[in-house]
Amino acid sequence: MIAKIQELLEEVEKLKASNLEEVEALRIKYLSKKGSLNALMADFRNVPAEMKKEVGMKLNDLKAKAQEKIAALKEVVDTQDCGTDELDLTRTAYPVSLGTRHPLTIVKNEIVDIFSRLGFTLAEGPEIEDDWHVFSALNFPPEHPARDMQDTFFIEKDPDILLRTHTSSIQVRTMERQKPPIRVICPGRVFRNEAISYRAHCIFHQIEGLYIDEGVSFADMKQSLLYFAKEVFGEQAVIRMRPSYFPFTEPSAESCNLCGGKGCNVCKGTGWLEIMGCGMVDPNVLKANNIDPEKYSGFAFGMGIERIAMLKYGVKDLRLYFENDVRFLHQFDEAL
Ligand code: PHE
Repeated sequence: MIAKIQELLEEVEKLKASNLEEVEALRIKYLSKKGSLNALMADFRNVPAEMKKEVGMKLNDLKAKAQEKIAALKEVVDTQDCGTDELDLTRTAYPVSLGTRHPLTIVKNEIVDIFSRLGFTLAEGPEIEDDWHVFSALNFPPEHPARDMQDTFFIEKDPDILLRTHTSSIQVRTMERQKPPIRVICPGRVFRNEAISYRAHCIFHQIEGLYIDEGVSFADMKQSLLYFAKEVFGEQAVIRMRPSYFPFTEPSAESCNLCGGKGCNVCKGTGWLEIMGCGMVDPNVLKANNIDPEKYSGFAFGMGIERIAMLKYGVKDLRLYFENDVRFLHQFDEAL
């Protein structure tokens, strides 16, 4: 009996059908009242009592497999077997496989979301910019090295048309359009002429924030950035600020996040990792954008989305974000 069950099982696994009639014939052959499975069931009576349990289980298994196989065959011919009059040209081609969002998009959306809870709204701007919006309006002196060919990709010279090197240009475009209070969060792709390595790329993504109103202070900035760090990295996150320099903010700082690990190779064992630049908007920048620095003050911050995503997901090589290998991309599911 067991041998017979095994034989049928192998037979069932190999079944094929190319249209609905053939599937129906198979169903009758195996699963109908007079089918081979029922015949076996009838024989079950004669199985010695001590083997009933084992044989019973095998029989049930065979039945389930046969039902499954025949249902699967039906499904396949159902999708293929459309006579010419039934041809449905609106059907999606199959198999349709769903993609997942790119990890950088996931992190960008998360950051936008966090700041929108603090009242920031989304602003975007062009990737091809002029000198004014990327440098001059942001208080970059004419001889500043960032304007140099080494950093900036120029498209035209005199007047300079270039690929933006940072999202701070969106700050300028926002100040042109809007009077204070201003509270915007600006994500975007930026370009710098850098050698590609595990930690740098000539194309990467930044997200920048700008808040201008009466009486905005450094303390407001610290609190907002601490809130951000806790939302992204968890309640245990702490930040530290270290003096830095940017032409468009004064004072400026780098906000560092405690990575929590002693000797982790991302922070090179210091425990701290710089995650963003920030500072109080320089009065010269406010003036250049027709905002009265006597009345208004503000803070700005900017960070690389790749870096935040690397920290968040433990990705060690930034180039992975650009290769678009589906084996890498499929690991990032928003449900995680
Ligand atoms: N734009 C700066 C950069 O590209 C980051 C920054 C933005 C710093 C805003 C301070 C304030 O590095």
